[in-house]
Amino acid sequence: MQKKKLVIFSGAGMSAESGLKTFRDNDGLWENYRVEEVATPEAWERDPEMVLDFYNQRRKQVFDATPNKAHKIIAELETYFDVEVITQNIDNLHEKAGSSKVLHLHGELLKSRSTAYPFKTYAMDHPVINWGDTCEQGAQLRPHVVWFGEEVPNLGIGQQICEEADILIIIGTSLNVYPAANLIFFAPDKAPKFLIDPANISVRDLANLKIIQKKAEEGMEELKAILLERHL
Ligand code: OAD
Repeated sequence: MQKKKLVIFSGAGMSAESGLKTFRDNDGLWENYRVEEVATPEAWERDPEMVLDFYNQRRKQVFDATPNKAHKIIAELETYFDVEVITQNIDNLHEKAGSSKVLHLHGELLKSRSTAYPFKTYAMDHPVINWGDTCEQGAQLRPHVVWFGEEVPNLGIGQQICEEADILIIIGTSLNVYPAANLIFFAPDKAPKFLIDPANISVRDLANLKIIQKKAEEGMEELKAILLERHL
């Protein structure tokens, strides 16, 4: 029998229990940094070394981080479902946990990219991009992340995956950032949907939604039991 397609839409809260900060919680990254100074094309024009430093710090933390129980449960669910992860996160914890299909909407911190040849990306085995590090053609390298004001190249494929969802799980995201947050509305009305987040996230007009107001690890444990017991 063909496995049902289980689509996960994850955000920063997914990795909170792995020790990585979210953006909009108390003491989140955007409380300590100004988005315009570190995560926009204008910031890169104005002060690239500051931008590189911001992402170098993030990358060092990701190098040391390990997947939490929620990442691992999502990977395990591949035994029962055709799992596709769509993540807003730039860390690699879904992959480290063993998930085989992961689509990054906002880029990947562990890759660098040429500023002159956007299709030239490089897997990084060390945590730092320095000002002066270049591709083979001599162009400066930048983080392979999507900055505010830039296009989201994987949006179309993300939409297609959501349209095919038999079940949708939204986890650890404030759903504040568009166009990413719109993707959940492409899942069919009839598909059961679950939202796991400790905060009271308001989602309007999403059919067939059950909210599990818990942190990722506890919430995913509960949801795994629901999925397997109910043979969804
Ligand atoms: P946010 O920081 O906006 O939201 C994080 C969510 O995680 C909130 O709803 C928290 O309640 C929840 N949360 C906190 N701890 C949690 C835990 N232990 N388990 C589960 N959930 C928890 O992060 P995102 O929604 O991911 O974009 O933000 C979206 C985008 O905004 C990011 O991809 C990034 C950021 O600016 C770019 O940089 C382009």
